[in-house]
Amino acid sequence: MPEKNLLLARSATLRQLQVFESIARLHSFSKAAKELHLTQPTVSMQVKKLVDVLETPLFEQVGRKTYLTEAGLALYESVDIILAQLQVAEQKINHIKGFAGGRVKISVITTAQYFVPKVVHAFMDAYPNVSVVMRVGNKEQLLQRIQQNKDDFYLLGQPPEGLNVVSSQLAVNPLAFVANAAHPLVGKKLQVLDLINEAFLMRESGSGIRAHIEKVFDEYQFQPQVKMVLGSNEAIRLGLLQNLGVTVASIPTLMDEINQGKLCVLDVAGFPINRYWYLAYAKGKVLSIAAEKLIELLRVAGDEMGRQAFIQHSY
Ligand code: PGA
Repeated sequence: MPEKNLLLARSATLRQLQVFESIARLHSFSKAAKELHLTQPTVSMQVKKLVDVLETPLFEQVGRKTYLTEAGLALYESVDIILAQLQVAEQKINHIKGFAGGRVKISVITTAQYFVPKVVHAFMDAYPNVSVVMRVGNKEQLLQRIQQNKDDFYLLGQPPEGLNVVSSQLAVNPLAFVANAAHPLVGKKLQVLDLINEAFLMRESGSGIRAHIEKVFDEYQFQPQVKMVLGSNEAIRLGLLQNLGVTVASIPTLMDEINQGKLCVLDVAGFPINRYWYLAYAKGKVLSIAAEKLIELLRVAGDEMGRQAFIQHSY
């Protein structure tokens, strides 16, 4: 390539391109500053330097949002590829270096946070030089992270559709009607429609469990009396402990309270429904040895949970 075509290579830095990419993706200078742990003046300065090199504006401000100009768009398409390629190179090098040190970044669905930390703990005991960063989110938040290629791998409540990922089943995640042990329906043989007048505790929109049970309820033509919408499994757990209503929840998230006799699984025909956790990572991703080892341990834990679920069967 002749030297005169290498203006950007000569005069721009990778950091400037990274800042530019972050602003373009987040439509905001301040969000990009936060993401990259920089101050806003630093972010603005990096962009200004890039603009000075290219002698054309890259962003325009419409209302409170920042949009790419036509030149910005042209740059963005290439920068996206360059940064993705750098990430691939970094992953390959980490893989070659082995895992004398390093970091595994994962994001897990809310229900999986009840078993993954134990596995991570065992992993860190076995590989003390590796650190693990684990984020927890609902379905919507995880799909966003997958799209932005934020983590090494993900644990989800269902296989992600329409995304360029490899996914496989990891463990059974049964969903059942659960109520406080003092609830009058505990111990009765029930049909779904017997719960028609019960106050129902519902998860927030964006929740995978909510989407799943709404579909199942449609099949039963069952419309729950939604008394409260609660934004997490934890809030649902507290609502159940206060006997505010019944819900359909992932049994593993409530196992302690069920074992302590504080909450009970209701005996409703057709339930528990066997849902599964899925492990997923971007197609073409070169997983580090450390990430592969953690996946191995998660698979062993998943198999064990499957065996337990089979043994307990009636919960
Ligand atoms: P949610 O996901 O937190 O989005 O409901 C839970 C699950 O799908 O297991």
